[in-house]
Amino acid sequence: MLVTGAAGGVAGAAVQIARHLGARVYAVTTTENVARVRVLGADVVYDRSQVDFAQELWRDTGKRGVDVVLDSVGSATWAGVLRAVARLGRVVVYGATTGPQAQLDLRALFWKQVAIMGTTMATQAEFEAVMGLVFGGELQPVVDTVLPLAEARAAHERLEAGAQFGKIVLRP
Ligand SMILES: NC(=O)c1ccc[n+]([C@@H]2O[C@H](COP(=O)([O-])OP(=O)(O)OC[C@H]3O[C@@H](n4cnc5c(N)ncnc54)[C@H](OP(=O)(O)O)[C@@H]3O)[C@@H](O)[C@H]2O)c1
Repeated sequence: MLVTGAAGGVAGAAVQIARHLGARVYAVTTTENVARVRVLGADVVYDRSQVDFAQELWRDTGKRGVDVVLDSVGSATWAGVLRAVARLGRVVVYGATTGPQAQLDLRALFWKQVAIMGTTMATQAEFEAVMGLVFGGELQPVVDTVLPLAEARAAHERLEAGAQFGKIVLRP
């Protein structure tokens, strides 16, 4: 499985869940977060400021690609996502942080017989199953900072600067 934007709150959870389920996890992040994403459970982490992650992944998987790609980065990673997915693989989209418009080369879709799907939230049963893993200590919520609600502006600025690792919590 490949998880892009791995320093993100959702992506960090996804890395841990994928690892828990026994997947070999490939992840993409920025230089300062490479080591932290490894700690979350990624087997291979690409520094997006240094390498073309899709090219590296293609080589690292023996020109096979990954069975599942989980992406919320959107426009900036879309071309790489389609290169990284294996024949008969799945691309799961849950966000569009860098923009909602993406070009699709239909040849990649049919030659590789790829399925593209969107996802949002979960069922109550899925939520409870994951929370069981959190309360059991198997998954660690990744919290970047906890700020008072009055500092919501600073929290947004931190997000906009891409300086966070995981979620920012606002407390009353
Ligand atoms: N479908 C749903 O139910 C659902 C639920 C929650 C959130 N979302 C959506 O999912 C997305 C992520 O949410 P989040 O709360 O996890 O956000 P987040 O913590 O802000 O994570 C976004 C990550 O995207 C990566 N990124 C940002 N700009 C990039 C660029 N130019 N190129 C490559 N990577 C870039 C960064 O990761 P790196 O620094 O590691 O590369 C960043 O940490 C958002 O678009 C949000 O709206 C959807």
